[in-house]
Amino acid sequence: MASRVASLVRSAKPTVARLADSVPRAVVDDIFGCALKKQTGVSLKYMLDFGANPIERQLILSAQFLHNELPVRLAHRVAELENLPYGLSAKAPVLKVRDWYVDSFKELRRFPAVKDTADELHFTDLLKHIYHRHRNVVPVMAIGVAELKRELKAAGGLSEFPEIHQFLDGFYLSRIGIRILIGQHIALHEPQKENHIGMICTKCSPLQVAQDAIFDARSICQREYASAPEVTVYGDPNFTFAYVPSHLHHMTFELVKNSLRAVNDRYEDAEDEPPPVRVVVAEGAEDVCIKVSDEGGGIPRSGLSRIWTYLYSTAHSPLEEMARDGGDGSDGPAVLAGYGYGLPISRLYARYFGGDLQILSMDGYGTDAYLHLNRLGNVQEPLP
Ligand SMILES: Nc1ncnc2c1ncn2[C@@H]1O[C@H](COP(=O)(O)OP(=O)(O)O)[C@@H](O)[C@H]1O
Ligand SMILES: [Mg+2]
Repeated sequence: MASRVASLVRSAKPTVARLADSVPRAVVDDIFGCALKKQTGVSLKYMLDFGANPIERQLILSAQFLHNELPVRLAHRVAELENLPYGLSAKAPVLKVRDWYVDSFKELRRFPAVKDTADELHFTDLLKHIYHRHRNVVPVMAIGVAELKRELKAAGGLSEFPEIHQFLDGFYLSRIGIRILIGQHIALHEPQKENHIGMICTKCSPLQVAQDAIFDARSICQREYASAPEVTVYGDPNFTFAYVPSHLHHMTFELVKNSLRAVNDRYEDAEDEPPPVRVVVAEGAEDVCIKVSDEGGGIPRSGLSRIWTYLYSTAHSPLEEMARDGGDGSDGPAVLAGYGYGLPISRLYARYFGGDLQILSMDGYGTDAYLHLNRLGNVQEPLP
């Protein structure tokens, strides 16, 4: 046993690049060349100004920017995926993700310079294809990391691996950025919805989005527990600000799911009605804050730091079954909990636009989650 742990720890050294085994030398050189270039960030405000009147000239400019920028961002990720500790780089799901990045990189580099509207339209088709290809990156990576975690645990050591957690934070943050850049460009081609600039809603009502997220979270809870605690919402229904509704939905959905689960678990055998989860939307001068409070018993202090790590979950993990059944995580139904990804990914969504997510808990009583969202949107995109 001890020697197995030792060998796993030894393999904490980065694994050597194996990209060259499957990809022509010239492409490998190109990838590592691009990985040395600096990534260029954009801000929500820039996206708003830019997409306000998407005339042809601007679409071409946007395509040219992406044509330069995306290969750089993808190359950074490939280089990282090649050098992960504990042998994670060699895990089949991780290789699969890496190949998606390599394929997209190659397609972008092969694409000739975008000069006119016809080129731009072709380029947009390529972007749609890439956007679709990468849709399952999060669950597939999660399967790879879960595999590693199981191995390390079986070997009797290392239940925490901060390097991998840090890598995943950067990796997923980068993914959010790439997807918003591509999504924004694609959306500018679609018929503009009222008050929308691409994926950004200039009059996003946090209360409305929270209500939709609550509805979705309660439906899942109903399905799994055959009951769902009430959720009461406080805030001004007329208040709006510029934000990406899909991000906001994702974050509130995850927080409400966590609260519903905690309350349900605590009141499962209780006589009295479970206390409602409370969602408060507050508009500040600088940020919009959404608080999700529950009386679900809280989180023990010892577990508090771990809630931010990937794959830390006190729920039964659907990933293990998926990996056993050979699935890739893409076709599983939405579940209430178990991936351990809800909180860390939600915090990344918040941070992407300059906000943050905090959790305060009273063990034995309940938990408050504070989601801070930047109002001004003029902060620069964080780039790992
Ligand atoms: N409101 C809450 N009350 C009690 N525990 C919570 C709450 N929110 C999160 N947790 C704890 O943090 C863990 C991680 O949460 P999360 O990242 O959403 O992953 P998952 O919900 O898949 O387990 C949960 O498994 C749970 O133990
Ligand atoms: Mg959760």
